[in-house]
Amino acid sequence: MKVALAFALLSFAYATPEQSVLEYFPVFNAAKADIDELKQLMTDLKAEVADLRAENQRFRDELNSNYTATRVAFYAYMSVDRGIDWFSLDKKIIYDKVNLNIGDGYDVLTGVFTAPSSGTYIFNTVSVAYNKSYMTLLLKINGNTADIAFPDAFDHDDRSTATTVTIVMLLKGDQVYAVNGDKKGGRMMESGDHDARCSFSGYRLY
Ligand SMILES: *[C@@H]1O[C@H](CO)[C@@H](O)[C@H](O)[C@H]1NC(C)=O
Ligand SMILES: *[C@@H]1O[C@H](CO)[C@@H](O)[C@H](O)[C@H]1NC(C)=O
Repeated sequence: MKVALAFALLSFAYATPEQSVLEYFPVFNAAKADIDELKQLMTDLKAEVADLRAENQRFRDELNSNYTATRVAFYAYMSVDRGIDWFSLDKKIIYDKVNLNIGDGYDVLTGVFTAPSSGTYIFNTVSVAYNKSYMTLLLKINGNTADIAFPDAFDHDDRSTATTVTIVMLLKGDQVYAVNGDKKGGRMMESGDHDARCSFSGYRLY
């Protein structure tokens, strides 16, 4: 032991100034190499975490914009009663009071809903004929009849209400609207904020 220590001190005494102390202690050298390796590993891991964070953010943004594009719901109704002459064959019915229009699919100027994204949608119409009035209402998709309703108070003074509930698959840009069919008569369709309402609404299911 004494001999070994003396030898180590002797060797140290003969070392050139630029030689590191560590060169005489292999264990320290190995530890330093390990530390350097760990430092490199930390640097690599930090870079990887940064990449994953960025990727996660991109994924979130994409998911969010996809989700926003699929959020579609609207509700519109006629703010006043409409005389039966206001309706005519194939004329688009304008529901002028819009209470909800998420996704901006419904155009109050034309009465047309345009699908902001492709998917499965549900549409509803409610039509109220008043006092000996009647009218057929067709729900159209790109000009084709998708559903029909016939509120009919033809021979009596009362309200007759008819509804449509229509589940369809739409492609982005498809157009949905209501028109009067080939039957109408009597005095008026009732709507507004009192006893009954004619409305057009819809939403994207998924
Ligand atoms: C977003 O929508 C596109 C097109 O439908 C789809 O390819 C993509 O996987 C969606 N992204 C996410 C994160 O859901
Ligand atoms: C509807 O008919 C009822 C019963 O005849 C009548 O009392 C009412 O005034 C009528 N409404 C209109 C707007 O004509």
